Formats: sequence, C-alpha cells, structure tokens
Amino acid sequence: MPKVKNWQLGREMDYRYDEAHPEWQFAAVFNINRCIACQTCTMACKSTWTFSRGQEYMWWNNVETKPYGGYPKFWDVKTLELMEQANPNGQRWNTATSDKEAPYGVYEGKTVFELSPKDRFALGYLPTDDEWQVPNLYEDNAVGPRGEENKYPKGGGLDEHGTWFFYLARICNHCTYPACLAACPRQAPYKRPEDGIVLIDQQRCWGYRRCVEACPYKKAMYRPETKTSEKCIACYPRIEGKDPLGGGVPIETRCMSVCVGKIRLQGLVKVDGNGEWAHDPENPLYYLVREEKVGLPLYPQFGTEPNIYYIPPRWVPRSYLHQMFGPGADHAIERYVMPSRKLLAVLQLFRATRTIIFRFEVIEGKKIGEANVNGKTLELFDDTVVGYDKNGKEAIRMNVLEPFHLRDEKYPNSI
Ligand code: SF4
Ligand code: SF4
Ligand code: SF4
Ligand code: F3S
Repeated sequence: MPKVKNWQLGREMDYRYDEAHPEWQFAAVFNINRCIACQTCTMACKSTWTFSRGQEYMWWNNVETKPYGGYPKFWDVKTLELMEQANPNGQRWNTATSDKEAPYGVYEGKTVFELSPKDRFALGYLPTDDEWQVPNLYEDNAVGPRGEENKYPKGGGLDEHGTWFFYLARICNHCTYPACLAACPRQAPYKRPEDGIVLIDQQRCWGYRRCVEACPYKKAMYRPETKTSEKCIACYPRIEGKDPLGGGVPIETRCMSVCVGKIRLQGLVKVDGNGEWAHDPENPLYYLVREEKVGLPLYPQFGTEPNIYYIPPRWVPRSYLHQMFGPGADHAIERYVMPSRKLLAVLQLFRATRTIIFRFEVIEGKKIGEANVNGKTLELFDDTVVGYDKNGKEAIRMNVLEPFHLRDEKYPNSI
C-alpha cells in the first residue's frame, strides 16, 4: 500500500491511495464541556436530510452518552477490540518527544488500514440491524458509584469526578484518509477537491456496504430502499455559499448552526501543497487545533485523520480520555481550564454567528479583574473579538466578558 503522512499520528502510514489533498478542508471543533444533549443538532439534520423512506434508522448526527452509549451500539468498543485482537497490547503512543510535525508524539501501534485483513483495505465490521435500532440507549447512564466500584482509575487531577458521564456529539469526520473511500470496490465515496467534504456518488454505489464495514466511526449507513449507502453531506450547499440565508458567503451546517449549547465552531481550513493545514493562526479552527492544541481528534489511532475535533470533558478520568482523544488530552484540559487571553476570546465565537469565520482578531481592552483557578491567577480583560467572513467582511463582534447583572435586593426571587 502507498505511504501517506498522518500528522495526528506523527508518522507515515499505509493507505490504499496516494496522497491527494483538497484546497480547503471542512473542519469543526466541538466543546464537550458545554454539550447538554438536547439533540437539537440531531433533529435539525434528520428533518433536513433523512426523513424519507428507508432512512428511518439513519442519524447522520447523533449525540451519545459516554462511556456506555453509542450509535450504532458499542461502535467504538467493538472497533477497539478488533484492533486489540489483531495487535495485542500494541496500541501505544511514544510521547517522549513532540514537535510541530508530531504534536502528540508518535503512534507506535497500528491503524485500521495497517491491521486490515488481506481481502480488505481496512479493519472493520458490519453492525447488525439490532445495533442500528436504538440511537440513544444508555442516555444519562453514569459510571459509578463513587469509590472502589469505579473501574476507571482516577488520574489525580482536581477536576476529575468519581461518578461521571459525558455527551459525545458526532457527525462524519470528513476524514483526510477516509476508510469508507479506501474500502469501496466501486470508488463511489470521494473527497471533494474544493473543500474536503466526503460524499458517496449514488450512481456509482452498488450497495456493497464495504464502506459501512470499514468506517471506524460507523458514519456510512445503508439504505435498503435505494440499495445504496448514504452519509453526512456536510450540508454542502451552505459551505458553497449557495444557501439563500448566507447572502453569498459560506455558512455553517444545519447541525452546527442550531446548537443550543453553543458547543460548535465550524469552518474551512486552507490546505497547503503538502497536504498540511497551511499556517494560519488567525483562522479560529487552526488556532484551536494547531496553535493552542485544545481541540483533539476522536480516536486518532484509527488512522483516518478525522477533521472534527473535540475539547475534552475536564471531569472525566484521564485514562479514558487518553484512549479516546490520544495523549494530547492533558495539555488540552490544562489550556481550557486556564485559558490564554486569546483562547478566551476565540471561545466566545462558538455559535455567535452562522456565517463561517475565516479570520478573527482580538481588540484588547483594559484589565477588569482576576480569578483564582486551581491556585493560579487568571487575569480578565475587557477584550473584544471580531470574526470576518470569506470576503473579509465583519460577521460578528463580541465582548469577551459577558455582562453581569446583579438583581436589586428590592426584588428577590421576583420576575
Ligand atoms: Fe449538544 Fe449542541 Fe447537539 Fe444540543 S445541539 S445536543 S448542545 S451538540
Ligand atoms: Fe468516511 Fe467514516 Fe471518515 Fe466519514 S467518518 S469520511 S464515513 S471513514
Ligand atoms: Fe447532517 Fe449537515 Fe450536520 Fe452532516 S453537517 S450531520 S448533513 S446537518
Ligand atoms: Fe461502495 Fe459502500 Fe456503495 S462500499 S458500492 S459506497 S455501499
């Protein structure tokens, strides 16, 4: 198999095809600390794209309660188990060194491509009908109770809880090296050269379902009515700036723009000639993922180089987060809990406007206070963050610190 560079693994890896990179890459950062599992995102996608016959069990966007929930049932545990069986005790990272090229160190285990059976191009499995039927099983089921029955070890961080769960919102990752694309005998899935969105050509698809089998995130889904597979299309008319709501500039997808918890920031990142994200620290996604390293890939060890990134939940045991988001979890939580002045500003941009922000700037204001965070002093400033659209026009202007209203003592508990 050809070798391709996977920056999330800090090394080259095997992939079915040679490197071919888009001009821009569709990407997003989800802040798990804020998700309230309202499922507004799920219903926005469902009511836009998957309300027809044969799509009843199709949830391109889903929100599952971790660690037990999952759609399809146990998708991640099953893939992790397959990897473990194929390479016992081998899924390890070497974090002795890290640099710009390999920010999380080097993954010394094997990816789903490198563990592939001989007659396939990626390791995977086909979920059963039963596993697709219950999209929100185990909602709000916590690990616990507090104490010795909790099988996940505590890592010593002040913020970790003995009893915990969290909500994981998921869509297709529009991977740099899609397993769905590698697996298909018909080359029906393809990655668009203009924006990196991964689509399945419905004319080419003959329903082999190798894409469903191979996608480690289980985001390609079979539709019996048409005998083809379908998947999240990244609401591409909105990304192309063709939605009438956008006034000619790219706007965020349906699931992103409705997010009640303001957990999502989505956009497009410029890709350079080597397939790397072009150095662009004023792009909010580049800033969060490559500069601050606060947004992390989901199961980077799968090897597809997913493009939806997560700010990990700070109350969850680190061993669990290391498996789910790789070795970058400690650094990401440290930055999130004690944000830099700029990071605090960029966090305000989440769901501030539906217009995709291509560039941001921070206008500095005066210092207005201090807060104590785990014994350290966090300075607070009256800064303003401004976001610009694709044409460089101002799309949003926000105060970094939200206004504080003190209810007058004359009106206790009144409305
Ligand atoms: Fe979470 Fe936002 Fe979806 Fe609500 S709309 S479940 S807050 S991601
Ligand atoms: Fe393909 Fe799955 Fe990656 Fe989406 S998440 S691009 S369906 S491999
Ligand atoms: Fe659905 Fe669009 Fe979100 Fe994809 S990006 S899950 S198609 S709403
Ligand atoms: Fe290919 Fe999947 Fe269709 S493997 S033929 S895209 S069902």
